[in-house]
Amino acid sequence: MTTSDPTAASLRRLVLMGQGYVGLPVAMQAVARGYSVVGFDVDETRVKRLNAGESYVEDVPDTILQEALASGRYKASTAERDCAGFDVAVITVPTPLHDGMPDLRFIEASARTLGRYLRPGATVVLESTTYPGTTEELVQPILEEMSGLVAGTDFHLGYSPERIDPGNPSWNFVNTPKVVSGIDADSLAAVDAFYSSLVERTVPVVGPKEAELTKLLENTFRHVNVALVNELAMFAGDLGIDVWSAIDAASTKPFGYMRFTPGPGVGGHCLPIDPSYLSWRVRRSLGHTFRFVELANDVNDHMPDYVVRRLTYGLNRRRKAVNGSRILLLGLAYKRNTSDSRESPSLVVAERLVALGADVRAVDTHIALGVLPHGVALASLSAKELRASDAVVMLTDHSDFDLDVVVAHAPYVLDTRRVVPAADHVEYL
Ligand SMILES: NC(=O)c1ccc[n+]([C@@H]2O[C@H](COP(=O)([O-])OP(=O)(O)OC[C@H]3O[C@@H](n4cnc5c(N)ncnc54)[C@H](O)[C@@H]3O)[C@@H](O)[C@H]2O)c1
Repeated sequence: MTTSDPTAASLRRLVLMGQGYVGLPVAMQAVARGYSVVGFDVDETRVKRLNAGESYVEDVPDTILQEALASGRYKASTAERDCAGFDVAVITVPTPLHDGMPDLRFIEASARTLGRYLRPGATVVLESTTYPGTTEELVQPILEEMSGLVAGTDFHLGYSPERIDPGNPSWNFVNTPKVVSGIDADSLAAVDAFYSSLVERTVPVVGPKEAELTKLLENTFRHVNVALVNELAMFAGDLGIDVWSAIDAASTKPFGYMRFTPGPGVGGHCLPIDPSYLSWRVRRSLGHTFRFVELANDVNDHMPDYVVRRLTYGLNRRRKAVNGSRILLLGLAYKRNTSDSRESPSLVVAERLVALGADVRAVDTHIALGVLPHGVALASLSAKELRASDAVVMLTDHSDFDLDVVVAHAPYVLDTRRVVPAADHVEYL
């Protein structure tokens, strides 16, 4: 079997399984590089919006999507038959946890669909974040069974983790080095050739398991370090020490230290979920507990409760109870300048405060209205709204928040991100 020629990109047909935060940017870059792309997704509403030129992913402006559609080399589809005839297929579907266990149904379904249309010489790449072994132990047998072909002999197979950081103005799909792997040398060459035609730099690794572990190592590293500063922030608070000042000072060390900052917890699809894929695999295969992951989960999961406790103390010092107080939350998405509210700790804070009897309002111009927790009203950031509040809690520091207005008009601010200018009535986590 010969390795595909990346210079023939304009002749090549690509199928993306899943058109979400990960799959849509890959699809757009592939169109820009001359591929003919089908964005397959099971969500009819998303597919309709895409074909109408309406992007729901911040990193993909409508204009880019509309140019892709106008080129005649991109279409979104829910019809499986549109996957037929692919040269390369990339799986970018969700990998959630279900009752604490990896839920690989979406990967399995994608592999079954692709297996039906797999042809000799084609390449299949898994990009979804998952535990080491998934490509070879789950995807490969399904593809082989559905197609009657043999991986390595008849088709190429590999894994390439996605490192996309939604909303990051500096690092994007094209300039972030892309880790690539294959089940054998030919597969690695095919996967490498494909991504080399899309991104500036690829990083070949020895095999799919190592590539799968690379992604989990990166996210577990971040999860554990966030937990470290979160725990430190809680102890420093109780000791009357300014943790932010210590973090700023430590960050001046040019080597051996990396800056992480405290916050209301972790959210999104990565940190609350990916490390548990790794600990699940370790426990199932070795019978061991991955203690760092369990500890980090424990600390980070409790941060919303800590925020509520700090707010309770702050109101108490002002002779107020949470019950009946009007509390304005700033930022419900889990991450600044994104609309992604999946697993957002801000939503947990909001729910806890509603349960305690607070009158909770929230400001977030990014998120969809449907994600507002029951009992939370959406508000706009105005001097009147701030003055009417008993407390304002900065949870996610979107750049459209006017922080000078916040500090000028809020009676009391609990800032979990240390972005609000210092004042007597502003307290940091
Ligand atoms: N969002 C991120 O920042 C990020 C970063 C790195 C890695 N990842 C990983 O990438 C994967 C995808 O994440 P995402 O954020 O793009 O998810 P997403 O929910 O934004 O998009 C996934 C899409 O897949 C679709 N889908 C579900 N089942 C399908 C099927 N059988 N066939 C075709 N489409 C199907 C869904 O309808 C959805 O539109 C996950 O494994 C995630 O962990 C995400």
